[in-house]
Amino acid sequence: MASPSAVGAPPKAEELQEEKKKPSGQQIDPYNVAGEVDESGNIKAIDYDRLIQEFGVQPLTEDHLKRFEQVTGKPAHRLMRRKLFFSHRDFDKILDTYEQYGTFMLYTGRGPSSGSMHLGHTVPFLFTKELQEMFDVPLVIMLTDDEKYLYTRSKNDGTQKKGAGVEDFLQFAHENIKDIIALGFDPNKTFIYTDYEFLGGHFYWNTSEFESMITLNQAQGAFGFGGSTNIGLIAYGAKQCVAAFPSSYPDLFGLPDYRAPDYNPQGMRRHKPLSKIPTLIPCAIDQEPYFRILRDRCDRMTDPHPKTCLILSKFLTALQGPGGKMSASDANSAIFMSDTASQIKNKINRHAFSGGRESLEEHRQLGGNPDVDVAYTYLSYFLESDDELAELAAKYRSGEMLTGEMKQRCIAELQKFVGAFQERRAQVDHSVMREYMRPRKLVWGGNPSPTKPAGKSGEEGKDCGEGAGDGAGGGEKRADGRGTKGERKAAKRAAQKEEKLAARPKQQAQQQKQGGEAPASSEAS
Ligand code: TRP
Repeated sequence: MASPSAVGAPPKAEELQEEKKKPSGQQIDPYNVAGEVDESGNIKAIDYDRLIQEFGVQPLTEDHLKRFEQVTGKPAHRLMRRKLFFSHRDFDKILDTYEQYGTFMLYTGRGPSSGSMHLGHTVPFLFTKELQEMFDVPLVIMLTDDEKYLYTRSKNDGTQKKGAGVEDFLQFAHENIKDIIALGFDPNKTFIYTDYEFLGGHFYWNTSEFESMITLNQAQGAFGFGGSTNIGLIAYGAKQCVAAFPSSYPDLFGLPDYRAPDYNPQGMRRHKPLSKIPTLIPCAIDQEPYFRILRDRCDRMTDPHPKTCLILSKFLTALQGPGGKMSASDANSAIFMSDTASQIKNKINRHAFSGGRESLEEHRQLGGNPDVDVAYTYLSYFLESDDELAELAAKYRSGEMLTGEMKQRCIAELQKFVGAFQERRAQVDHSVMREYMRPRKLVWGGNPSPTKPAGKSGEEGKDCGEGAGDGAGGGEKRADGRGTKGERKAAKRAAQKEEKLAARPKQQAQQQKQGGEAPASSEAS
């Protein structure tokens, strides 16, 4: 394996001529990603070690990779081996749970800030997809059209610009969803939604409960909000948090939600067994402040949830800039998934930062630096073979391989990936998209041989995994969506109550006053 810690790191600032900026510290949160600016105005590369310390997250170590291989029987994912995913919270716990009880839920998301996605957006999704295949577990993908609308409006000092209305962000979300689907997610195990379309029912009940546990001071502290931030954006975070709770998506586990038009009485309570299923979130580290808030409150829910586990990535290196990330607003900073083969070639050749030397002679003599070479870095995201990658690095270092040759190799690999993506993307029409967005029971296998399979352990433990088998059952148990015994009793009582009310129109006025629903017979009275 080639020097792992350096791969994925943006080029060092001193090696680039950048426009001068005022000195400032590095700032990373969901709304800001910027490297430190030093005295002479150079933007420095993001200091990920410092971030680990500041955020209080754990580094992903060789032991984790070994444990991953042990539990899944598959090699650790290349993006973990190459340390693009470099840090975590409780990743070991999710592996333990999976080993013992056999299942968990994956959750990730995207803020649809524009209709087009670039390579930097797709790589984390690709990772999530491959993790889903390795573990064979259900996955939810949240598109935060509401967040991006509110954020854009906040950024524009409260004005709503043309092309940045609610409908526009919903539209971006749809375009992004088609791109995400084209990465090859399995429709049987994957649910994708936008907030504007899906929020309601148990998801919204969880949201309210969660909102009640975050004070304004806490939101300001975590996200850098000020007195002029709009209240929608301030409240938004609760939604991104409860999206990690399987209990927000009863339909996916074969249990009834409580929504129009039928308001199934069996869904009048949130389903406790779902609160036992643990979740793993793969995401870039700028999202960590949300999930710190989440983890601190999981056990304060009416139905306590296990602390959500995280696996965190660095930012993908921009074609030329240090200290920042690829940006959809700068066409030359990124390879777009809609770029043609020749655009890819030109962008890499013209704009990809090179770790090579000034002249051919110098390069041959002193060798290049693959660690800051963007073409090499991109190759590290896609080449499966560690040996092949190590060979490229060695040849580059020794001067045997030239920048142009490295770029050549990278261009070929990216053209292959983007080309295959575009072929699949052409097949994703509106009805394919809608299929992924339909709340429905997902089907997955989970761990084929858990050490404590569902129902075998006998004890009702507090352990998160215990219920995981109970509630989700790897898609096998509760296939009928009947819920637990207690739940069935409660639902029966609720149904009986409703029936009674329906049969006695006199009580109706009172019932409505109390905020209950009008019984079906209300017209008749
Ligand atoms: N806030 C994220 C963004 O702007 C979108 C998002 C929602 C997300 N839920 C997530 C990202 C979970 C990672 C994991 O991109």
